[in-house]
Amino acid sequence: MTSYAKSTIENGCSTLFFGDPERTKQFFEEVVQYPSGDNAQPFDFKVTSNNTLSVSVCSERSRHALNFNDWATYISLGALIEQMVIVASQFGFSIEYDSKTASASGNWNFSFSYRADLEPDPLCSMLSQRESDRRSFHKGDLSASFQKSLTQNFNFPNSRIQFQRIEEGMLPYLSQTETLVFNWKKAFMDILKWISFDSVPRQLRGLPWKNLGISVIESKIIQAISKVPFLFHVFYHLRWHKGAEMSSKQKFRSSAGVLLISTSSMDSRNLINCGRSLLRVWTYLCGSDYGVQLHTSSTLPYCHHLVDSSHLRQLPSRNRKTYLKLAPLFFQKYFSLDSSKYPVILMRFGKSSPIPDDMKALRQPIQESH
Ligand SMILES: Cc1cc2nc3c(=O)[nH]c(=O)nc-3n(C[C@H](O)[C@H](O)[C@H](O)COP(=O)(O)O)c2cc1C
Repeated sequence: MTSYAKSTIENGCSTLFFGDPERTKQFFEEVVQYPSGDNAQPFDFKVTSNNTLSVSVCSERSRHALNFNDWATYISLGALIEQMVIVASQFGFSIEYDSKTASASGNWNFSFSYRADLEPDPLCSMLSQRESDRRSFHKGDLSASFQKSLTQNFNFPNSRIQFQRIEEGMLPYLSQTETLVFNWKKAFMDILKWISFDSVPRQLRGLPWKNLGISVIESKIIQAISKVPFLFHVFYHLRWHKGAEMSSKQKFRSSAGVLLISTSSMDSRNLINCGRSLLRVWTYLCGSDYGVQLHTSSTLPYCHHLVDSSHLRQLPSRNRKTYLKLAPLFFQKYFSLDSSKYPVILMRFGKSSPIPDDMKALRQPIQESH
């Protein structure tokens, strides 16, 4: 029995998770750090009884040109679930949810059960180190034993984790998809909503510009577009995506490798499992002194094309060709995926130091209502 479990029994509140205000406070402080696209933090929380929690999606915060069919929301939900599972394990609690009723209503209900024999999850101590790092990395080891330690226990049903070292031949696809937002105004403006250009006071949702891994000049251009959206077209005609592609290639070259999480269908249950695998592997990498950056524009638009071939019509022509021609070759050559498998999440990673405080994405405290 863990020392925490012992002390809660002595306090007489071992089986009522939200019966202990201190525990509730600590739980939400750690859970709020779950990752979400643009750090939009789309979920609202409601404690519905001493052992149940309801999580719902705020449609306003989850709306995004790149959130096709709410896929990014389901991935983020999976990451949130795994974050809750890891945090609750410190207190001797396991968490269950009913996946059947979940997606239909947009509400997810979780029940907490006390288990005297439950050990804290091995990732507990690494959880606070997980973060997104968009800087260049310092390569790093990708030995077979390291890959094995990562995939062991991290694969949830129907979510497969694969690694690849960076090869020069990967870079055209990765850099062209990474810079999709420089060609697609709708997606660019959606991201802009979440970028903060002020240093003080910092906003608690979204991203400070320093978090984006861009230069001061680039931040000034982006800030100008946020004030005068027409300027997007000016920079588009100046072919600004070319500079962005070069910088993206340099960041991939500095990485130890890329990791892909794939699945066999894009249904909500599979995506939630991919999100759970993602949270575990991401936490483990950061806890082992690696920096991690996700690249969902290299995966999700292509998955959308696989389920609905008309989708690419809404993308700028420059990018259409990339997804139509380069994507099948890229996923086949480097990950042996045919078009019956969906590449859900790709991340680059490499040795890195923790990011400074003024670059960090902050969080809005969870206001749990009773
Ligand atoms: C579904 C999903 C998609 C994401 N896509 C990207 C991406 O394409 N590029 C990127 O740099 N970060 C991406 N992120 C990372 C988030 O921006 C990041 O998790 C969030 O800002 C919180 O910051 P943190 O990871 O440092 O806690 C994604 C995260 C999630 C959950």
